[in-house]
Amino acid sequence: MVRAILAQLIAAIALAAGTYILARFGHIQIQIAILIPAQGLLAAALGTGFGLARWWLPLQALFPAAIAAALALGLPSWLYLTAFSVLILIYWNAAGERVPLYLSNQKTCRALEALLPAGRSFTFIDMGCGLGAVLTRLAHQPRGRFVGIETAPLPFMVSWLRAKLLGQGRVSVHRANLWDQDFGAFDVVYCFLSPAPMPALFEKARAEMKPGSLLISNSFTVPDHPADEILNLDDRRATQLHLWRF
Ligand SMILES: C[S@@+](CC[C@H](N)C(=O)[O-])C[C@H]1O[C@@H](n2cnc3c(N)ncnc32)[C@H](O)[C@@H]1O
Repeated sequence: MVRAILAQLIAAIALAAGTYILARFGHIQIQIAILIPAQGLLAAALGTGFGLARWWLPLQALFPAAIAAALALGLPSWLYLTAFSVLILIYWNAAGERVPLYLSNQKTCRALEALLPAGRSFTFIDMGCGLGAVLTRLAHQPRGRFVGIETAPLPFMVSWLRAKLLGQGRVSVHRANLWDQDFGAFDVVYCFLSPAPMPALFEKARAEMKPGSLLISNSFTVPDHPADEILNLDDRRATQLHLWRF
C-alpha cells in the first residue's frame, strides 16, 4: 500500500515537473486528457520497479482516471469518507496482514464437514472467520464446538450476530487476533487467508497443535512444507484444501 502511494506521488511530481518545464521553456501545453493516463501508466511502471504484486498494476494505472471521474461527478465529500470508512472496517487486515475478505463457498463447507472427527466430541476453529458462514454451516454437527476469531470490525459484528442467531448454541465468535490464539486447544484448525501469513502460521501450528489434530488451509500452501494431503474440490474456483495432520 505504501509503495503504491509512493509510486503515485513520484509519478505526480515527475509529471508536474515535466509539464512545467515544457510550458515554461517549450511553450507546450499538455492536455489533462494526456496527463491522466500518463500518471496511471507511470505509477504502474514505478510500482513494478518497487516490487508491487502484479494485481496492483491495473489498479495503479486506472487510479488517476477513477479520481478524475469521481471529481467530475461532484458527489459530496462525506460520501467518500463514509465509503472509505466502511471499506476500512471490512478490509481491516488487507494492508497489515495482507489478508483481504473473501468467503469459503458451500462446496468447501461440505468438504470440511467430511473432515470433522467422527464418533467423538471435537473443537473446530476458523482463524479469521470473516462473516461466520463456515461456522454456522457446520453447526448442525451435534458433537462439535465451533469457534471463530476475527479482527476486522464489520465482519466480526456480522459473524458474532450470525453465531447468536444460527449457531444452535455450538458456535462462539470472538474479536481476537489469530497470532494470540493457542492452536493447541483445537482438534481442527481451518484458515483461508493468503500466501503472506502461511509460513508463520504453519510454524505456530506445528509448535502448538496437539497430536491427532488437523490443520486445513483453503487454497494457500506453505513453501517447503507440502501438505500431507490435498483435496481438489470440483468448484468454479478449483479450490484446493491443504491438509496437515499432526
Ligand atoms: C479470506 S477471509 C476468510 C473468511 C472465512 N474464514 C471464510 O472462509 O469464509 C480471511 C479473514 O481473516 C481475517 N483475518 C486476517 N488476519 C487476521 C488475524 N491476524 N486475526 C484474525 N482475523 C484475521 C480477515 O479479516 C478476513 O475476514
